[in-house]
Amino acid sequence: MLEKIDRVTPVDVLMQSAPVIPVLVVEDAAHAVPLAQALVAGGMPVLEITLRSSAALEAIRRIAQEVPAAIVGAGTVLNPAQFAAAQLAGARFIIAPGTTEALYASAKDTGLPFIPAVATPSEIMRGLEHGFARFKFFPAESMGGIAALKSFGGPFPDARFCPTGGVTEANLASYAALPNVFAVGGSWLAPKDKVAGGDWAAITALAQRAVKAAQDAKRK
Ligand code: 3PG
Repeated sequence: MLEKIDRVTPVDVLMQSAPVIPVLVVEDAAHAVPLAQALVAGGMPVLEITLRSSAALEAIRRIAQEVPAAIVGAGTVLNPAQFAAAQLAGARFIIAPGTTEALYASAKDTGLPFIPAVATPSEIMRGLEHGFARFKFFPAESMGGIAALKSFGGPFPDARFCPTGGVTEANLASYAALPNVFAVGGSWLAPKDKVAGGDWAAITALAQRAVKAAQDAKRK
């Protein structure tokens, strides 16, 4: 029998101000603070720094220390060693592109908010067994997108999802409008050329548009 989860989770508390979560690959730690400031100014306080670059942990450290309005977390966390390193750097939440027993154990040991990714009913059931009911749905577009999320709503009424992977400015409102979607995420919010060129105003504008679109969709 699966545990019924109807409480407010630590993830809900963190994400309440964030209908959109930028998925960030920071190649140069010097970009971390202005990038975070630009996104926060655009209404996106929750930032996922993926551990896909050698600068990622330093980026988390700098944002945690220098951008108090940001809630910085680590993404693309694949194993307990990365989980621990991200926490040490100042990550306030951890996102994984999938799930492993070892990562569930890290989450329980540390108490750090953890958003594992799922793409199938069995993975959702495993997460619920572990007491988790807030998931990343990855890769959203290639694993069934909106239709899949609607289908998950039947058997898993307590589960909430943050779709990422193929979410863009064009389709984010359709995702955000779903009742079992707590946020949407994606990398489109920090285009490489804008980051490299230091065009922070353009990134703030992108963030503002996305937040407004998500909020409007949720209100409908
Ligand atoms: C992720 O880790 O969430 C994805 O790489 C983001 O996918 P996107 O680049 O399609 O937004």
